[in-house]
Amino acid sequence: MIEYRPLRIALLGAGSVGGQVARLLLENKNELAARVGAELELIGIAVRDLNGKRDSAIPRELLTTDAEALIMTADIVIEVMGGIEPARTLIRQALLAGADVITANKALLANHSTELFDVAEQVGAQLYYEAAVAAAIPIIRPLRESLAGDKVIRIMGIVNGSTNYILDRMDSEGLSLEAAMVEATDLGYLEADPKLDVEGYDAAQKIAILASLAFHTEVDLNSVHREGITSITPAQIASARENGYVIKLLAVCEKIEADEDGEAGVSARVYPALIPREHPLASVRKAFNAVFVEAEAAGELMFYGAGAGGSQTASAVLGDLVSAAKRHVIGGPGLADSAHADLPTLPISRITTSYQIALEVKDQPGVLAEVANIFATHNVSVETVEQSIANKRQNPTAQLLIGTHDAKDSALTAVVQALSSSKVVDSITSVIRVEGN
Ligand code: HSE
Repeated sequence: MIEYRPLRIALLGAGSVGGQVARLLLENKNELAARVGAELELIGIAVRDLNGKRDSAIPRELLTTDAEALIMTADIVIEVMGGIEPARTLIRQALLAGADVITANKALLANHSTELFDVAEQVGAQLYYEAAVAAAIPIIRPLRESLAGDKVIRIMGIVNGSTNYILDRMDSEGLSLEAAMVEATDLGYLEADPKLDVEGYDAAQKIAILASLAFHTEVDLNSVHREGITSITPAQIASARENGYVIKLLAVCEKIEADEDGEAGVSARVYPALIPREHPLASVRKAFNAVFVEAEAAGELMFYGAGAGGSQTASAVLGDLVSAAKRHVIGGPGLADSAHADLPTLPISRITTSYQIALEVKDQPGVLAEVANIFATHNVSVETVEQSIANKRQNPTAQLLIGTHDAKDSALTAVVQALSSSKVVDSITSVIRVEGN
């Protein structure tokens, strides 16, 4: 039986996610009321233009351009408008007015989460954001709640669907990067500014959010190391395939212990990397996302599903809405995120990983010894070397594919620098990190 007063829900934004949130809220009204113990009354939808093109599920009479007035009378505000402003100001106002806020806005959280969480804490309101990372995939709540008693060691995610689609098409069909990008554009996968996807900005925002939660610390987006997929070549993809790997754009975060190079901290980074074909993340095809978590007691976990899309993102928003609404009905303070660990975000030079390096060298005596000497000088141990010969008659050159053991990124960078200035090396054709070995 429902005894609590109806809860007033304000929706900011009526795009592809907002339309689906409104539809689900209205279509599932009775079911949601039964789950929460109170009716969820959609009191208004703030939009920029009343006459814009909209989903037919949106009741026109709920539209308003006065977002500020709308949030003032709401119990719960759902922000799905995207962008930094006016979303940031409206969320602040909503929290200060005592409303709980649900947002799907990764850019806003990655840039201003500390400020917004501080406001929420001051007034005892809640800020929920399951939809901000990997849409329908539950990953915020597992990190915030299910794993709250464990210690996360590392997260490795495919959190950008469009780049995963592009790399998958290059791998499975041998497409060029350009051709795969055209397909992704036609399918509507890329952001309006494709740089956000292909240069790794979108994934960097998401890993900053996950790293903060996983390691109970603030991770500044500007400290996230970021490399995109724009220089990945069909030759690298083919070589990966031949050697039992696949190239994925990975978003990684992990805790790094203090060592001779400095204090303990957190590393958060985005780059294309080779992963073994038998690794669970290698099976993530097309535009799907997955987040692979390693925790001390839980071991390895993988969360998989759709990382974008109107109804998929709306599913995560509705989950947050039910949690926020239940808190109103039951009362009491909700969850507060903890940033007690206060760890610095460390530069890429502090991480330990391995590299695969492809070189074109002169096919002459002593060349292999010279190359091996460069690795030894920088204390990087070589794990595998494969050699193939091209142009046997004129101007003989050899292609070397060298895999290293794990080493500090600073040492691996020094090796690449030394190789590039070595007389025996004609060119470095590929340098790529290896993860998940
Ligand atoms: N551009 C993003 C992606 C959309 O490709 O995954 C979801 O954040």
